[in-house]
Amino acid sequence: MTEPNTTPSTVRVFADQEQLSAAAAQLFLECAQAAVGERGLFSVALSGGSTPRGMYRLLAESPYATAVPWANTHLFWGDERLVPPDDEGSNYGQASAALLVQVPIPAANIHRARGELALEAAVDEYAVQLRKFAAAQSPASATSWPRFDLVLLGLGSDGHTASLFPGQASDEWETKPVVGATADYGGRPAHRLTLTPPVFNDARHVLFLVTGADKAAAVAATLNGAPDPARWPAQRIRPAAGRVTWLLDEAAAASL
Ligand code: 6PG
Repeated sequence: MTEPNTTPSTVRVFADQEQLSAAAAQLFLECAQAAVGERGLFSVALSGGSTPRGMYRLLAESPYATAVPWANTHLFWGDERLVPPDDEGSNYGQASAALLVQVPIPAANIHRARGELALEAAVDEYAVQLRKFAAAQSPASATSWPRFDLVLLGLGSDGHTASLFPGQASDEWETKPVVGATADYGGRPAHRLTLTPPVFNDARHVLFLVTGADKAAAVAATLNGAPDPARWPAQRIRPAAGRVTWLLDEAAAASL
């Protein structure tokens, strides 16, 4: 039997995508400043999809382009499509064009998954990147992934988050940090890799950005529905010692 979701979530509702993006960019800055102040480094897993684009664009502009401690910020991705980095379907490519080329982040701080590789090679290579980064942060503890300061996630109208799709859960979702996935959604590249719930659930802060009326049912089921993580994978996101914040627009929040 699945336990009810007891991780406290903060839900904030905004009139539109613009206001939501502004709040997300501000939250990104505050997390960055707190993490760098406390630990000297800010580690983030970005998400793909269209919803974070407004936030990426804001982070590329004043005041964020200079106020975010980019030199101490390390970026990973929660999931990636198996396409080359310059393909318009690349999650890295999207963030690169909207944000990374415009801010002073060192190239060595950008830890993208190699979507241009074959699936198994891409999964293995990304797992190695995670392990090496984690080892560099905590040489004493042999962890396979870093404890991210911030994880950005979206939600599909079908209930998927990152590339954890309904009905696709396997033992590997609990035993490996990175797994492959294949799913047709919105005409986007079907072959992907994704971080798994144990990685997300180690994060200090998970931030969901969700907009649009087509997401309302999935938001309500994930947050208030009966526990059914096979159907609603985002119900698996329950950081053991972290916070979850949902930023919604009014349309996505309509069924709460
Ligand atoms: C991806 C994502 C995915 C996304 C949702 C929501 O690679 O496709 O990371 O999980 O966040 O599909 O996408 P939208 O923001 O476009 O609705």
